[in-house]
Amino acid sequence: MTFVVTSNCSGCRFTDCVAVCPVDCFHGDQAMLYINPEVCIDCGACVPECPVDAIFDEGSVPEDLQIWLSINEERVRQLPVVNARETPLLSAEETARRLGFR
Ligand code: SF4
Ligand code: F3S
Repeated sequence: MTFVVTSNCSGCRFTDCVAVCPVDCFHGDQAMLYINPEVCIDCGACVPECPVDAIFDEGSVPEDLQIWLSINEERVRQLPVVNARETPLLSAEETARRLGFR
């Protein structure tokens, strides 16, 4: 089992999730973060931290977001670990508003 980051993270990159993760399983590009399924210990701590509800347990990913399971798995192989909180993207607040979280 693992947890997975989905599309709501794109354009936000709040990184509150990283601050609570006990292992280094988040990787990131310029747009968003991804979870390494081989490192995630399924603690669930990251889920309530995300202001835009981007993270799901792999068993609870909505049908229209299932593609993100394989995207996370593939992207982490090519991207550096992000293990400290960073400044959210300039577009973060606007994206969160558009998604209905503000
Ligand atoms: Fe990290 Fe736990 Fe979230 Fe997995 S479930 S990404 S180990 S905080
Ligand atoms: Fe993305 Fe939410 Fe983490 S926006 S960086 S999954 S806190």
